[in-house]
Amino acid sequence: MTVRDDFSNRVIYQIYPRSFCDSNGDGIGDINGIIEKLDYLKDLGVGAIWLSPCYQSPKIDNGYDISDYREIDPDYGNLDDLKRLISEAHARDIKLLMDLVVNHTSSEHEWFKRARKSKTDPYHDYYIWADKPLTDWTGDFGGSSWEYNEETDEYYYHSFAVQQPDLNWKNPKVRKECAEIVDFWVYLGVDGFRCDVMDFIGKDFDKNVRYGAPVMHEYLNEIFSRDCVKNIFTVGECYSGEMLNLCGKDRGELTAVFQFDHLGVGRDGGWKKVPFAYDDIKRFFKKWHEFSENNNLLHMLFTDNHDAPHFISRSGNDKELRYECATMFATMFFTVKGVPVIYEGQEYGSASPTYVSIESFNDISTLNYYAEIERKRVLRKEDLMSQINFGSRDNTRRPYCWNGNENQNFGFTCGKPWLALNSRGKEINLETDRKNEKSVYKYYKKILLLRKSEKCIRLGKFNELYASEENTGYFVFEQSYEKEKFVVVCNFDRESEIKFPYNEADYKLVLSNYADRKDFSPLYRPFEAAIYKTK
Ligand code: GLC
Ligand code: CA
Repeated sequence: MTVRDDFSNRVIYQIYPRSFCDSNGDGIGDINGIIEKLDYLKDLGVGAIWLSPCYQSPKIDNGYDISDYREIDPDYGNLDDLKRLISEAHARDIKLLMDLVVNHTSSEHEWFKRARKSKTDPYHDYYIWADKPLTDWTGDFGGSSWEYNEETDEYYYHSFAVQQPDLNWKNPKVRKECAEIVDFWVYLGVDGFRCDVMDFIGKDFDKNVRYGAPVMHEYLNEIFSRDCVKNIFTVGECYSGEMLNLCGKDRGELTAVFQFDHLGVGRDGGWKKVPFAYDDIKRFFKKWHEFSENNNLLHMLFTDNHDAPHFISRSGNDKELRYECATMFATMFFTVKGVPVIYEGQEYGSASPTYVSIESFNDISTLNYYAEIERKRVLRKEDLMSQINFGSRDNTRRPYCWNGNENQNFGFTCGKPWLALNSRGKEINLETDRKNEKSVYKYYKKILLLRKSEKCIRLGKFNELYASEENTGYFVFEQSYEKEKFVVVCNFDRESEIKFPYNEADYKLVLSNYADRKDFSPLYRPFEAAIYKTK
């Protein structure tokens, strides 16, 4: 079986290791904590884990700043723990994907420490230097992208924080190092990588291109078309919108890429809430799904990750209709062809918390933004805090709430949690959710089971029904495979009348998030979702 076919039948679960489960009471989630929860994940229906970085790091950007690519950070355990995680996961038929962060290193990496000392050091060329800033770009976390380095009287380039210097991918030695890092982990048994800001390796200062310059294809091909890594799964975090050229068949580049259009709905940049339309989510979802289908690419099906606030809090309803909204989106995203990715906590309907002070935050982009606005004095404190509460990446990075007992830190740690707990943890946590009649977890389990048992959902052909421009407020589609058909109805925030499109006698209702749904009743209530199947 090809790796693509294999992953078309799997569901990925993203773990943010720092916040998942603490096994030794130091307040920080760790690898042994993940091992303890493998049975839980298996039971949910997970077929692969994507582990956000747990390599040695000063953690300026929580691990996305790596100082040693071949060591596990002591906060999370050691290499033996990781090997045990791999073998315990494999014993349950769960694959393990590591995060590959090779656009940049930490400024604490040995390479950079040497590179910045002198122009003649062999590592100098591992990074990008110039006598003066070549562009007026700003780093993703604020400030100029060029930082002055006194020792060599030059500037180095960083796409992200000052402490995250970009590697010079033009240098063949850098590419060789990266290939060897990949091999190191593959040799240990990992099954693939989520490739951090992968298209950032293609930059062209002269042409004012920050990422996605065509040269990235050569670089990726050089690393991933080698026989020894041909069968690993690679999914790129790519913003260039290039999908076909990155993961088209026989390109020897990536297996799949994430598309982020739908994560921009309802916000302007990272911090400002703007009105959003559910129909925009539908439009983007359809666009990339159809594009993937027409070009025979793998579509990644996700709503949440560690960089964006909870989808239901931002582009949905996380208040009185939280359960309905969470399960409606699950219905929409998990009943088509592609690879579902669940972010930790999503399966119990985790939602964004609220804090009164910046003290409760940790994320570098949040702290930098806060400091910048404070300095410029362009927003009132309350307004700034409400932007922070709305947009911070810490929203999804709060410790996982295993139960509702605040004295036990919601079951995450018996020590002092590294980051303030979710302020809504008493109400929204796994244990409570599992006991609820309206349980997001139980719905996730059911829909993943349905996906697993129905080829038509996993591999069927997608077709939107009622696709006219006037049909707003809901999304209805079908999946067809041989003689079977599934009809999926996802209603958005208001009541809608949706007549069943086929002869009702030929279909049956197989799943719905409203317990009292009367089979084919055309009245769909807010966030009501229903799945029908041919008899
Ligand atoms: C990616 C990661 C993000 C990180 C950035 C820099 O976007 O997902 O968390 O801050 O890359 O590595
Ligand atoms: Ca720990």
